[in-house]
Amino acid sequence: MNIGSYKIDGFASLAPMAGAADRAFREICRSFGAAMVTGELASAKGISRMDKKSQLLLQVSPAERPMSVQLFGCEPEVMAQSAQIAMQYEPDFLDINMGCPAPKVTAGGGGSSLMKDPALCGEIVRAVCEVSKVPVTVKIRKGWDENTVTAVEVAGICEKNGAAAIAIHGRTREQMYSGQADWDIIKQVKRTVSIPVIGNGDITTAEKAGRMLEYTGCDMVMVGRGALGNPWIFSEIGALLGHGAVLPPPSIEEKMLLLRRQAALTCEYKGEYTAMREIRKHITWYIKGMRGAAALRGLAGTVKTMDELDLLIKQVLLSQIKGE
Ligand SMILES: Cc1cc2nc3c(=O)[nH]c(=O)nc-3n(C[C@H](O)[C@H](O)[C@H](O)COP(=O)(O)O)c2cc1C
Repeated sequence: MNIGSYKIDGFASLAPMAGAADRAFREICRSFGAAMVTGELASAKGISRMDKKSQLLLQVSPAERPMSVQLFGCEPEVMAQSAQIAMQYEPDFLDINMGCPAPKVTAGGGGSSLMKDPALCGEIVRAVCEVSKVPVTVKIRKGWDENTVTAVEVAGICEKNGAAAIAIHGRTREQMYSGQADWDIIKQVKRTVSIPVIGNGDITTAEKAGRMLEYTGCDMVMVGRGALGNPWIFSEIGALLGHGAVLPPPSIEEKMLLLRRQAALTCEYKGEYTAMREIRKHITWYIKGMRGAAALRGLAGTVKTMDELDLLIKQVLLSQIKGE
């Protein structure tokens, strides 16, 4: 599939996930075969004000490429200004967030709130495309609520104004992350536009990825929560859809090794203090479904150093052997 003139190989990309899919996790997902990754949403206003924290979110490491940097906001001029600043970080793509349901984003008129104003969506895409040196993509939702299902209209307007691809999450803002994603809306968007469409929502197995591609006709799928604690999903999707192979699930030892690798990378990028606080939720994702996971989750919440993580990993491995 091509996004603009950029060729993307693979069937599945990693969804942007603020507070979860950081540089360490994105690099790991790329190493497991994610076709591309998207950064955590960055405030256009913050970037334009030269706010350090917002600008940090624009950084792209070589191991992440191809990577898209995601901007949110609702003022075309501010979005364009932030896009211009983002260019200095040399992303492979710029992505515009029209799907975030968080009140602190929608209250300011950004994220999924834009799904209520298709004309403004068009203005934003045009303004960003005018200054961007890389293809501009847009991530949308089904709509604001069941009475405001605007995905097809918004996708068409985005395409007309220069978007190079559309990612669509098949839920309304009202649904947040609950219920089931509507794959029919993905199918409708795919039928409407001629730029690539990336389908998103509820891909938790390789088999589901295949089903979404087949059912909706979309060009690629995007995996969010299904990749947390489970970057193997990308190699499983590649094996199944590439040559019909079903890979064996990762062993507990493999899971613990990868958790450790992710923690070490996070320490390298953020320092041990911050890294260990942020890795706690990843521990719970890596141990999900294991014997004694509830008790281990309690322990995960207290980990403060790599040494403590190593102890916890030992305990996980022992408890599985002993059958505790
Ligand atoms: C913790 C978390 C953070 C997220 N942050 C973002 C974000 O920064 N930008 C964005 O466009 N979507 C964000 N999303 C939405 C996901 O990209 C994705 O659309 C959604 O999780 C549905 O896909 P899934 O069913 O595969 O998880 C976030 C989702 C989660 C769970």
